[in-house]
Amino acid sequence: MDTPQSASPTLALEEHRAALAGRTLIELFAADADRFSRLSLSWDHWLADWSKQRLTSQAMDALVAYAHERNLPAWISALFSGEKINLSEGRPVLHTALRQQEDTPLLVDGSDVIAPIRAAQARVRTLAAQIRGGLRLGATGRPLRHVVALGIGGSDLGPKLVCDALSPPRSDRGDGADVAFVSNVDPEHLTRALAGLDPATTLFIITSKTFTTSETLANAHAARAWLARALGAGGALAAHFVAITGNDEAARAFGIAGADILPIWDWVGGRYSLWSPVGLPVAIRCGWDAYAELLAGAASVDAHFREAPLEANLPVLLGLVDFWNARLMGYPQRIVAPYAEALKLLPSYLQQLTLESNGKSVLRDGSPVDGPTAPALWGSPGTDGQHAYFQWLHQGTSTAAVEFIVPVRAAHPLGEQQSMLIANALAQAQALMRGKSLDEARAEVARAAKEVPRAAAEALAASRVCPGNRPSTMLLLPELNSRRLGQLIALFEHRTFVEGVLLGINSFDQWGVELGKALAGPILAALKSGVEPADADASTRGLAAHVNALIRPR
Ligand code: F6P
Repeated sequence: MDTPQSASPTLALEEHRAALAGRTLIELFAADADRFSRLSLSWDHWLADWSKQRLTSQAMDALVAYAHERNLPAWISALFSGEKINLSEGRPVLHTALRQQEDTPLLVDGSDVIAPIRAAQARVRTLAAQIRGGLRLGATGRPLRHVVALGIGGSDLGPKLVCDALSPPRSDRGDGADVAFVSNVDPEHLTRALAGLDPATTLFIITSKTFTTSETLANAHAARAWLARALGAGGALAAHFVAITGNDEAARAFGIAGADILPIWDWVGGRYSLWSPVGLPVAIRCGWDAYAELLAGAASVDAHFREAPLEANLPVLLGLVDFWNARLMGYPQRIVAPYAEALKLLPSYLQQLTLESNGKSVLRDGSPVDGPTAPALWGSPGTDGQHAYFQWLHQGTSTAAVEFIVPVRAAHPLGEQQSMLIANALAQAQALMRGKSLDEARAEVARAAKEVPRAAAEALAASRVCPGNRPSTMLLLPELNSRRLGQLIALFEHRTFVEGVLLGINSFDQWGVELGKALAGPILAALKSGVEPADADASTRGLAAHVNALIRPR
C-alpha cells in the first residue's frame, strides 16, 4: 500500500502551514465565522473541538487529501482484515478482533481467530466470577480474596487504568475482589502491595506476553517466595497463581497449572492487549458486565473508524491533527490533561501507546524519516495541573499542543464542583488561545497599584503578559463509564495508527526497548560480583564503582 513518495508532507501542506505564519487564532476565528463548526465533530454524543489548533479548514481539507494519497482507507481495511501490517515482525495487528461483537470468523493464516477469542473470554468470565464469589481456594482451603497483578508496560497499564477509572469506591465494591498492580522491579513496589495481605488469601496474576520480561519474572519469583515462607513450598502454591501469556511452556515451567494459563496471541501488541485476557483484573475488580461494556464501547469506535468517510471520521480527523502538529508544526511535546481524577492514569497509558507506536525514526522500508515523528507525551489531571505546569503552558518559551479530555456528566451528587471542573477546562483552553496583551496587563497593574513609577509598572505589566495563540483540542465525552472508557481508548489507538500511516512508519513494533535490556545484563553481573562491568565506557564503569562502594562499604 505504500506510495513511492517519501513520507514527507506534500507541498500543499507546507503551503498551508506557510499561510498561517503571523496569523493568530483570534484572527483565524475573526476571519471565519464558521471556524468552530468546520473544525469540530460530534459523534455518539462526543464533541471533539480542534478549532483552537493552529490550522485552517483549508489545511484540514489538504490533510484529508494527503490521507487519501497515503492510502489511509486501504490501511484501515488491512488493519481490520488481519493483513501482516506489522512488517518488521511479520504479524497481523488484530486487537480489534478481541472486541469484535459478532461471531463472524476472521481468518489469520487460514485459521479462525474469533472462536479461540470467545473460548478465552469464557474462561476469563468464569475465573473472574469464581474469584469474586470467593470460590477460588488457596493452599489452605481459604478463598482467595486479594489479587496482585504482576506485569509491566502493556501487561499492566491498560488494566490498571481501567480498574482505577471504573472501580467503585471501596464501600461500594460489593463482591468484587481487591486488585493491586505491581510493575516495577524496585522491591518497594511489591513490598508495598503485599503489606497487610494474608498469603493464604492472595492470588497472583502474572501477565507477560513473552514470559521473559525481567521485572515481571523477578516479581513473580519474589511473590512465590513470599507465599512459600508462609504456606510452605510445594505444588499447593499453584492455586495462588494465574498466568496470562503467549509463552505457555515458560508459564508451566514456572509451576503454573495449564488450566490457569490464559492466552495472549502474537497478533496482539502489548500496548493493544487490554482487550485480551490481559483484561482479567478488570473483570475481577469491576465484574464481567463492565468488562464486556468496555469491549463494546471500543467496538463502536471500530465500526465508526471502518465505515465513516475520512472527512467525518473522528479518529481519522484527530490523527490528522496529531500528524499536522508533529510533522508540519513540529511541536516537540503533547500534553494530555484529563479533567477527571478517575483518568489520572490515562497520560501514562497514552505514553506507551503513542511513544512505543510512533516514537521512531525509520520509515516502513527502513529508510530514515525526513522530519519529526511522535512528540513527547505527558500530562496529569486538571485542575491540579493548573497549579503545577500550566504556568509553563501560558508563559513558557515553547509551544505544546494540549488535549483536554472532559467527561461532562459526573457520577457524583457534587454538581457544583463538576461545573467548576468543566468551567476550568474550557477557561484554560480559552486562555491559552487568547492570552493577555500588554495593554490588558498594563490596565491590570494600574488597577492593582495606583502609585507605581512608570518604569516599574511597565516591568510589572510585562510579567503578566500571556502570548496566547497556544493550541489545544477539547474532547467532551458525555460521562465516564465502561462503554465510554472503551471508546476513549479505542479512539486513541486508531488516531495513533492514522498518525503512523501518514508518518510512513510501522506503529506496531518496538525494537528501541531491546538495547537497554541487553546492556543491563553485564552491569547487573558487575553489581552482584562487585567488579567493573565488562566492555563499559568510563562513565558506566565509574558509576558502577560508586554503587559498589556504597553497597559494599569496606
Ligand atoms: O516495553 C517493551 C514491552 O515489550 C512492551 O511492548 C510490553 O507491553 C512490555 O514490554 C511487557 O512485555 P511482556 O508482556 O512480554 O512482559
